[in-house]
Amino acid sequence: MNSKATILVVDDEFGPRESFRMLLKDRYRVITAASGKEALAVVDTEGDEIDLILLDIRMPEEDGITVLQKIKSRNPEIEVAMVTAYASVETARNALKHGAIDYLIKPFDRDDVEEIVSRGIARRRKQRENKVTIQRLQVVNSTLQGEIEKAREDVREHFAGTVQALIAAIDAKDHYTAGHSERVASLTRYLGESCGIFDRELELLCQAAQVHDIGKIGISEAVLRKKGSLLEEEMEEMRMHPAIGAEILAPVNFLRDMIPAVLYHHERYDGTGYLQGIERDQIALYARIVAIADAIDAMGSDRPYREAMSPEQIWQSLYNGAGTQFDPELVEVALKLRLPYIQQRLTETYKQIKR
Ligand SMILES: [Fe+2]
Repeated sequence: MNSKATILVVDDEFGPRESFRMLLKDRYRVITAASGKEALAVVDTEGDEIDLILLDIRMPEEDGITVLQKIKSRNPEIEVAMVTAYASVETARNALKHGAIDYLIKPFDRDDVEEIVSRGIARRRKQRENKVTIQRLQVVNSTLQGEIEKAREDVREHFAGTVQALIAAIDAKDHYTAGHSERVASLTRYLGESCGIFDRELELLCQAAQVHDIGKIGISEAVLRKKGSLLEEEMEEMRMHPAIGAEILAPVNFLRDMIPAVLYHHERYDGTGYLQGIERDQIALYARIVAIADAIDAMGSDRPYREAMSPEQIWQSLYNGAGTQFDPELVEVALKLRLPYIQQRLTETYKQIKR
Protein backbone atom coordinates (compact mmCIF):
# COMPACT_ATOMS: atom_id res chain seq x y z
CA MET A 1 0.00 0.00 0.00
CA ASN A 2 1.36 3.43 -0.98
CA SER A 3 1.65 5.93 1.87
CA LYS A 4 -0.02 8.58 -0.29
CA ALA A 5 -3.68 8.09 -1.09
CA THR A 6 -4.35 7.27 -4.76
CA ILE A 7 -6.74 9.30 -6.89
CA LEU A 8 -7.87 8.33 -10.37
CA VAL A 9 -9.01 11.23 -12.55
CA VAL A 10 -11.25 10.23 -15.45
CA ASP A 11 -12.05 12.84 -18.08
CA ASP A 12 -12.04 12.70 -21.89
CA GLU A 13 -10.80 16.30 -22.05
CA PHE A 14 -7.11 16.92 -21.46
CA GLY A 15 -7.65 20.35 -19.82
CA PRO A 16 -9.67 19.39 -16.76
CA ARG A 17 -7.76 16.13 -16.41
CA GLU A 18 -4.49 18.04 -16.15
CA SER A 19 -5.93 20.73 -13.88
CA PHE A 20 -6.96 18.07 -11.38
CA ARG A 21 -3.58 16.38 -11.64
CA MET A 22 -1.66 19.60 -11.06
CA LEU A 23 -3.86 20.53 -8.14
CA LEU A 24 -3.60 17.17 -6.39
CA LYS A 25 -0.23 15.67 -7.35
CA ASP A 26 1.75 17.07 -4.42
CA ARG A 27 -0.40 15.46 -1.77
CA TYR A 28 -1.73 12.42 -3.59
CA ARG A 29 -0.66 9.81 -6.08
CA VAL A 30 -2.67 10.78 -9.17
CA ILE A 31 -3.47 8.46 -12.08
CA THR A 32 -5.40 9.71 -15.11
CA ALA A 33 -7.66 8.01 -17.63
CA ALA A 34 -9.22 9.49 -20.77
CA SER A 35 -12.25 7.21 -21.02
CA GLY A 36 -14.48 4.92 -19.03
CA LYS A 37 -12.83 1.90 -20.60
CA GLU A 38 -9.36 3.08 -19.53
CA ALA A 39 -10.67 3.86 -16.06
CA LEU A 40 -12.10 0.36 -15.63
CA ALA A 41 -8.80 -1.14 -16.77
CA VAL A 42 -7.04 0.88 -14.03
CA VAL A 43 -9.61 -0.25 -11.45
CA ASP A 44 -9.01 -3.85 -12.50
CA THR A 45 -5.23 -3.60 -12.15
CA GLU A 46 -4.94 -1.25 -9.17
CA GLY A 47 -7.93 -2.65 -7.27
CA ASP A 48 -7.79 -1.80 -3.59
CA GLU A 49 -5.00 0.76 -4.08
CA ILE A 50 -7.44 3.34 -5.43
CA ASP A 51 -9.00 5.53 -2.79
CA LEU A 52 -11.03 8.00 -4.83
CA ILE A 53 -12.10 8.48 -8.43
CA LEU A 54 -13.00 11.86 -9.91
CA LEU A 55 -15.28 10.83 -12.74
CA ASP A 56 -16.54 13.03 -15.55
CA ILE A 57 -20.22 12.50 -16.39
CA ARG A 58 -20.17 13.60 -20.02
CA MET A 59 -17.85 11.36 -21.98
CA PRO A 60 -18.29 10.26 -25.62
CA GLU A 61 -18.17 6.49 -25.39
CA GLU A 62 -19.63 5.53 -22.04
CA ASP A 63 -21.16 8.20 -19.84
CA GLY A 64 -19.97 8.67 -16.27
CA ILE A 65 -23.09 7.19 -14.65
CA THR A 66 -22.63 3.90 -16.55
CA VAL A 67 -18.94 3.84 -15.63
CA LEU A 68 -19.81 4.62 -11.99
CA GLN A 69 -22.11 1.59 -11.88
CA LYS A 70 -19.43 -0.65 -13.38
CA ILE A 71 -16.82 0.61 -10.89
CA LYS A 72 -19.17 0.03 -7.95
CA SER A 73 -20.00 -3.46 -9.11
CA ARG A 74 -16.27 -4.28 -9.36
CA ASN A 75 -15.23 -2.63 -6.12
CA PRO A 76 -18.00 -0.99 -4.08
CA GLU A 77 -15.54 0.40 -1.55
CA ILE A 78 -13.79 2.83 -3.94
CA GLU A 79 -15.16 6.32 -3.41
CA VAL A 80 -16.29 8.18 -6.54
CA ALA A 81 -17.02 11.90 -6.94
CA MET A 82 -18.71 12.94 -10.19
CA VAL A 83 -17.53 15.90 -12.25
CA THR A 84 -19.89 17.70 -14.56
CA ALA A 85 -20.08 20.85 -16.57
CA TYR A 86 -23.82 20.58 -16.66
CA ALA A 87 -24.86 20.91 -13.11
CA SER A 88 -28.28 19.53 -13.05
CA VAL A 89 -29.70 18.37 -9.76
CA GLU A 90 -31.16 15.37 -11.48
CA THR A 91 -27.80 14.15 -12.80
CA ALA A 92 -26.23 14.64 -9.41
CA ARG A 93 -29.03 12.81 -7.63
CA ASN A 94 -28.77 9.99 -10.09
CA ALA A 95 -25.04 9.71 -9.38
CA LEU A 96 -25.55 9.75 -5.61
CA LYS A 97 -28.17 7.04 -5.97
CA HIS A 98 -25.53 4.84 -7.58
CA GLY A 99 -23.07 5.35 -4.74
CA ALA A 100 -21.12 8.55 -5.65
CA ILE A 101 -20.05 10.53 -2.61
CA ASP A 102 -20.75 13.95 -4.19
CA TYR A 103 -20.27 15.95 -7.40
CA LEU A 104 -18.15 18.88 -8.62
CA ILE A 105 -19.21 21.47 -11.13
CA LYS A 106 -16.88 22.56 -13.90
CA PRO A 107 -15.19 25.00 -13.88
CA PHE A 108 -14.48 23.73 -10.41
CA ASP A 109 -13.60 25.66 -7.32
CA ARG A 110 -10.28 24.67 -5.69
CA ASP A 111 -11.74 24.60 -2.21
CA ASP A 112 -14.64 22.43 -3.34
CA VAL A 113 -12.20 19.98 -4.90
CA GLU A 114 -10.10 19.83 -1.74
CA GLU A 115 -13.12 19.43 0.47
CA ILE A 116 -14.65 16.60 -1.57
CA VAL A 117 -11.31 14.85 -2.09
CA SER A 118 -10.41 14.90 1.60
CA ARG A 119 -13.92 13.80 2.56
CA GLY A 120 -13.84 10.91 0.08
CA ILE A 121 -10.40 9.79 1.20
CA ALA A 122 -11.34 10.02 4.88
CA ARG A 123 -14.41 7.90 4.21
CA ARG A 124 -12.35 5.33 2.32
CA ARG A 125 -9.81 5.20 5.16
CA LYS A 126 -12.61 4.71 7.67
CA GLN A 127 -14.00 1.88 5.55
CA ARG A 128 -10.58 0.23 5.44
CA GLU A 129 -10.25 0.51 9.22
CA ASN A 130 -13.72 -0.96 9.67
CA LYS A 131 -12.84 -3.80 7.35
CA VAL A 132 -9.69 -4.57 9.36
CA THR A 133 -11.69 -4.37 12.59
CA ILE A 134 -14.33 -6.72 11.19
CA GLN A 135 -11.65 -9.17 10.06
CA ARG A 136 -10.04 -9.04 13.51
CA LEU A 137 -13.42 -9.57 15.15
CA GLN A 138 -14.09 -12.49 12.85
CA VAL A 139 -10.80 -14.07 13.91
CA VAL A 140 -11.58 -13.44 17.59
CA ASN A 141 -15.09 -14.74 17.06
CA SER A 142 -14.00 -17.94 15.39
CA THR A 143 -11.37 -18.48 18.09
CA LEU A 144 -14.03 -17.98 20.75
CA GLN A 145 -16.41 -20.29 18.89
CA GLY A 146 -13.69 -22.92 18.87
CA GLU A 147 -13.09 -22.49 22.59
CA ILE A 148 -16.81 -22.63 23.36
CA GLU A 149 -17.17 -25.79 21.29
CA LYS A 150 -14.16 -27.30 23.06
CA ALA A 151 -15.64 -26.39 26.46
CA ARG A 152 -18.96 -27.93 25.41
CA GLU A 153 -17.15 -31.05 24.28
CA ASP A 154 -15.35 -31.23 27.64
CA VAL A 155 -18.67 -30.92 29.47
CA ARG A 156 -20.21 -33.63 27.27
CA GLU A 157 -17.24 -35.94 27.90
CA HIS A 158 -17.30 -35.14 31.57
CA PHE A 159 -21.03 -35.82 31.64
CA ALA A 160 -20.75 -39.13 29.77
CA GLY A 161 -17.81 -40.14 31.98
CA THR A 162 -19.75 -39.32 35.12
CA VAL A 163 -22.78 -41.28 33.92
CA GLN A 164 -20.56 -44.27 33.08
CA ALA A 165 -18.92 -44.09 36.52
CA LEU A 166 -22.32 -44.04 38.20
CA ILE A 167 -23.49 -47.05 36.17
CA ALA A 168 -20.31 -48.97 36.95
CA ALA A 169 -20.91 -48.25 40.62
CA ILE A 170 -24.40 -49.81 40.58
CA ASP A 171 -23.31 -52.69 38.34
CA ALA A 172 -20.57 -53.60 40.82
CA LYS A 173 -23.04 -53.75 43.65
CA ASP A 174 -26.07 -55.33 42.06
CA HIS A 175 -25.66 -58.08 39.50
CA TYR A 176 -29.20 -57.78 38.29
CA THR A 177 -28.69 -54.14 37.52
CA ALA A 178 -25.54 -54.99 35.52
CA GLY A 179 -26.63 -54.53 31.90
CA HIS A 180 -30.13 -53.56 32.98
CA SER A 181 -29.31 -49.85 32.86
CA GLU A 182 -27.97 -50.06 29.31
CA ARG A 183 -30.95 -52.08 28.08
CA VAL A 184 -33.42 -49.71 29.71
CA ALA A 185 -31.59 -46.82 28.04
CA SER A 186 -31.86 -48.54 24.60
CA LEU A 187 -35.56 -49.25 25.04
CA THR A 188 -36.07 -45.70 26.29
CA ARG A 189 -34.41 -44.38 23.14
CA TYR A 190 -36.91 -46.24 20.92
CA LEU A 191 -39.84 -45.05 23.00
CA GLY A 192 -38.54 -41.48 23.23
CA GLU A 193 -38.04 -41.19 19.46
CA SER A 194 -41.53 -42.57 18.85
CA CYS A 195 -42.88 -39.90 21.20
CA GLY A 196 -41.19 -37.19 19.12
CA ILE A 197 -38.28 -36.55 21.51
CA PHE A 198 -35.03 -35.82 19.70
CA ASP A 199 -31.55 -34.33 19.94
CA ARG A 200 -30.42 -33.03 23.32
CA GLU A 201 -33.73 -33.89 24.98
CA LEU A 202 -33.45 -37.48 23.78
CA GLU A 203 -29.88 -37.70 25.08
CA LEU A 204 -31.01 -36.36 28.45
CA LEU A 205 -33.86 -38.89 28.56
CA CYS A 206 -31.52 -41.80 27.69
CA GLN A 207 -28.93 -40.72 30.23
CA ALA A 208 -31.65 -40.48 32.85
CA ALA A 209 -32.68 -44.02 31.88
CA GLN A 210 -29.09 -45.18 32.30
CA VAL A 211 -28.93 -43.90 35.86
CA HIS A 212 -32.56 -44.52 36.86
CA ASP A 213 -31.51 -47.11 39.49
CA ILE A 214 -28.42 -45.24 40.71
CA GLY A 215 -30.05 -44.96 44.14
CA LYS A 216 -29.53 -48.71 44.60
CA ILE A 217 -25.99 -47.78 45.63
CA GLY A 218 -27.55 -46.74 48.92
CA ILE A 219 -29.43 -50.04 49.44
CA SER A 220 -27.76 -52.77 51.48
CA GLU A 221 -26.33 -55.73 49.58
CA ALA A 222 -28.34 -58.09 51.76
CA VAL A 223 -31.53 -56.59 50.38
CA LEU A 224 -30.26 -56.12 46.82
CA ARG A 225 -28.99 -59.66 46.48
CA LYS A 226 -31.64 -61.44 48.49
CA LYS A 227 -33.06 -64.46 46.72
CA GLY A 228 -36.73 -64.83 47.39
CA SER A 229 -39.27 -62.23 48.36
CA LEU A 230 -38.42 -59.26 50.55
CA LEU A 231 -39.77 -58.68 54.03
CA GLU A 232 -41.85 -55.58 54.57
CA GLU A 233 -38.95 -53.58 56.08
CA GLU A 234 -36.64 -54.74 53.30
CA MET A 235 -39.25 -53.63 50.80
CA GLU A 236 -39.35 -50.26 52.56
CA GLU A 237 -35.60 -49.93 52.18
CA MET A 238 -35.71 -50.93 48.52
CA ARG A 239 -38.42 -48.38 47.85
CA MET A 240 -36.06 -45.61 48.92
CA HIS A 241 -33.81 -46.03 45.86
CA PRO A 242 -35.51 -43.40 43.67
CA ALA A 243 -35.12 -40.79 46.43
CA ILE A 244 -31.52 -41.82 47.10
CA GLY A 245 -30.87 -41.55 43.34
CA ALA A 246 -32.28 -38.02 43.27
CA GLU A 247 -30.05 -37.09 46.24
CA ILE A 248 -26.99 -38.41 44.43
CA LEU A 249 -27.75 -36.33 41.32
CA ALA A 250 -28.91 -33.15 43.04
CA PRO A 251 -25.53 -31.59 43.95
CA VAL A 252 -24.19 -31.85 40.38
CA ASN A 253 -25.47 -29.11 38.15
CA PHE A 254 -25.40 -30.99 34.87
CA LEU A 255 -27.00 -34.13 36.35
CA ARG A 256 -29.90 -32.31 37.96
CA ASP A 257 -32.16 -32.38 34.88
CA MET A 258 -32.31 -36.16 35.16
CA ILE A 259 -33.86 -36.10 38.63
CA PRO A 260 -37.59 -36.28 37.67
CA ALA A 261 -37.05 -39.44 35.62
CA VAL A 262 -35.05 -41.02 38.44
CA LEU A 263 -37.27 -39.91 41.30
CA TYR A 264 -40.58 -40.93 39.75
CA HIS A 265 -39.76 -44.08 37.79
CA HIS A 266 -41.68 -46.27 40.27
CA GLU A 267 -44.76 -44.09 40.38
CA ARG A 268 -47.79 -45.71 38.77
CA TYR A 269 -50.21 -44.04 36.40
CA ASP A 270 -53.15 -44.70 38.75
CA GLY A 271 -51.35 -43.15 41.73
CA THR A 272 -50.61 -46.38 43.59
CA GLY A 273 -46.85 -46.39 43.01
CA TYR A 274 -44.04 -45.12 45.22
CA LEU A 275 -42.62 -42.87 46.65
CA GLN A 276 -45.11 -40.08 46.41
CA GLY A 277 -48.18 -41.77 45.00
CA ILE A 278 -48.61 -39.11 42.33
CA GLU A 279 -50.64 -39.97 39.23
CA ARG A 280 -51.07 -39.35 35.51
CA ASP A 281 -49.26 -36.26 34.22
CA GLN A 282 -48.18 -35.31 37.73
CA ILE A 283 -45.56 -37.96 36.94
CA ALA A 284 -42.90 -36.46 34.66
CA LEU A 285 -43.18 -37.76 31.07
CA TYR A 286 -39.59 -39.00 31.15
CA ALA A 287 -40.34 -41.02 34.29
CA ARG A 288 -43.43 -42.54 32.62
CA ILE A 289 -41.28 -43.53 29.63
CA VAL A 290 -38.47 -44.96 31.78
CA ALA A 291 -41.07 -46.88 33.85
CA ILE A 292 -42.24 -48.74 30.73
CA ALA A 293 -38.70 -49.45 29.51
CA ASP A 294 -37.77 -50.59 33.02
CA ALA A 295 -40.77 -52.91 33.20
CA ILE A 296 -40.12 -54.42 29.75
CA ASP A 297 -36.55 -55.20 30.71
CA ALA A 298 -37.47 -56.52 34.17
CA MET A 299 -40.12 -58.82 32.70
CA GLY A 300 -37.67 -60.08 30.09
CA SER A 301 -34.99 -60.94 32.66
CA ASP A 302 -34.68 -64.03 34.84
CA ARG A 303 -35.33 -63.23 38.48
CA PRO A 304 -34.58 -65.41 41.52
CA TYR A 305 -38.29 -65.99 41.93
CA ARG A 306 -39.30 -66.45 38.28
CA GLU A 307 -38.10 -67.16 34.76
CA ALA A 308 -37.89 -64.42 32.14
CA MET A 309 -41.19 -63.80 30.43
CA SER A 310 -41.59 -64.33 26.69
CA PRO A 311 -42.02 -61.27 24.45
CA GLU A 312 -45.70 -62.15 23.99
CA GLN A 313 -46.21 -62.31 27.76
CA ILE A 314 -44.44 -58.96 28.11
CA TRP A 315 -46.70 -57.29 25.56
CA GLN A 316 -49.74 -58.82 27.27
CA SER A 317 -48.60 -57.44 30.65
CA LEU A 318 -48.03 -54.01 29.20
CA TYR A 319 -51.48 -54.10 27.67
CA ASN A 320 -53.01 -55.20 30.99
CA GLY A 321 -51.14 -52.43 32.84
CA ALA A 322 -52.26 -49.62 30.51
CA GLY A 323 -54.08 -47.00 32.57
CA THR A 324 -53.19 -48.62 35.90
CA GLN A 325 -49.44 -49.14 36.12
CA PHE A 326 -48.56 -47.40 32.86
CA ASP A 327 -49.52 -44.35 30.83
CA PRO A 328 -51.94 -45.88 28.28
CA GLU A 329 -50.73 -43.65 25.45
CA LEU A 330 -47.15 -44.73 26.02
CA VAL A 331 -48.24 -48.37 26.16
CA GLU A 332 -49.81 -47.85 22.76
CA VAL A 333 -46.53 -46.46 21.48
CA ALA A 334 -44.64 -49.43 22.95
CA LEU A 335 -47.09 -51.94 21.50
CA LYS A 336 -46.88 -50.37 18.06
CA LEU A 337 -43.12 -50.52 18.29
CA ARG A 338 -42.90 -54.17 19.30
CA LEU A 339 -43.04 -55.46 15.77
CA PRO A 340 -40.80 -56.26 14.23
CA TYR A 341 -37.59 -54.92 15.61
CA ILE A 342 -38.10 -54.42 19.32
CA GLN A 343 -39.31 -57.95 19.79
CA GLN A 344 -36.44 -59.34 17.78
CA ARG A 345 -34.03 -57.10 19.60
CA LEU A 346 -35.29 -58.13 22.99
CA THR A 347 -35.12 -61.82 22.10
CA GLU A 348 -31.52 -61.38 20.95
CA THR A 349 -30.60 -59.39 24.04
CA TYR A 350 -31.98 -61.98 26.42
CA LYS A 351 -30.29 -64.78 24.53
CA GLN A 352 -27.03 -62.95 25.14
CA ILE A 353 -27.80 -62.48 28.83
CA LYS A 354 -28.64 -66.14 29.34
CA ARG A 355 -25.39 -67.27 27.71
FE1 LIG B 1 -35.87 -48.85 39.93
